Amino acid sequence: MERRPFGPVPRNVPVIGQGTWYIDDAHRPTAVAALRNGLDLGMTHIDTAEMYGDAELVVGEAISGRRDEVFLVSKVLPSNASISGTVTACERSLARLRTDRLDCYLLHWPGSYPLEDTFEGFERLREQGKILSWGVSNFDVPDLEAAWAAGGEGRMACNQVLYHLEERAIEHAVLPWCEEHGVVTVAYSPFGHGVFPDPTSRGGRVLAEIAESHFTTVRRVALRFLVRRSSTFTIPKASSAEHAADNAGAGAIILTEAELARIDTAFPLGPRPRRLPML
Ligand SMILES: NC(=O)c1ccc[n+]([C@@H]2O[C@H](COP(=O)([O-])OP(=O)(O)OC[C@H]3O[C@@H](n4cnc5c(N)ncnc54)[C@H](OP(=O)(O)O)[C@@H]3O)[C@@H](O)[C@H]2O)c1
Repeated sequence: MERRPFGPVPRNVPVIGQGTWYIDDAHRPTAVAALRNGLDLGMTHIDTAEMYGDAELVVGEAISGRRDEVFLVSKVLPSNASISGTVTACERSLARLRTDRLDCYLLHWPGSYPLEDTFEGFERLREQGKILSWGVSNFDVPDLEAAWAAGGEGRMACNQVLYHLEERAIEHAVLPWCEEHGVVTVAYSPFGHGVFPDPTSRGGRVLAEIAESHFTTVRRVALRFLVRRSSTFTIPKASSAEHAADNAGAGAIILTEAELARIDTAFPLGPRPRRLPML
């Protein structure tokens, strides 16, 4: 599994991690086994959120006894993101995850509390060792500019955003802004939240041909395309050990420039939308 620096955080993080939205819908032992299999295969970046129902409880069970291996991320809801609300929400997440610290804590999307307040909450948590770094999610360029001003230079570790083959809006401005400022990009819903390109479509056929030539799978090719730039990571969600193993395999394949160009053409960037899309 390839690992990369995670912005200002002094940790190398796997390019392919594990999402957990709706993982609590699966049979609990199966979901826990999926996450553990993912850990065994190097997908040690686990993403969760207070919003995801019982997902934090599932993660807590999966990482029990293996906390030090994991780069653990959770998120505060904007409606909780006052100074004290942020601190309390984090403490609730820590209890549900059965750990004493998060590696990164994110504001789930921009809300109505001033960013200065949320980031003050983050800094208090950092001083107490309850979080080791913090970042944002679903931030468009104006939001990122405001966060940079409110949080101070070099503080924000990442921006977690919607990014898959059929939704590449971040490439217009958000991704370049993040690269310029040393903020990493974490691609969420890399399989379109379950809507993966049809194998009979033009793009689906391109993925299949490239996968076949590498003796690998279309999912791995898709994930690899999303992490082709050195500042990007992704967090597919899998609730079976088989799916987790498939996804982890993306961390080892290498696509040629010509293959990347074929995928780029088959799944065109499209025009820049007025607002950053989110799920
Ligand atoms: N910050 C935000 O606002 C935000 C928003 C959305 C998501 N996220 C994060 O990003 C993570 C990933 O996004 P997502 O959950 O929306 O969707 P996703 O990862 O794009 O897709 C998940 C779907 O793909 C299936 N799948 C996974 N691996 C597969 C494989 N190898 N072969 C076939 N099917 C496979 C899963 O099935 P099974 O479950 O049956 O394995 C599930 O139905 C979330 O879980 C969450 O942690 C963050």
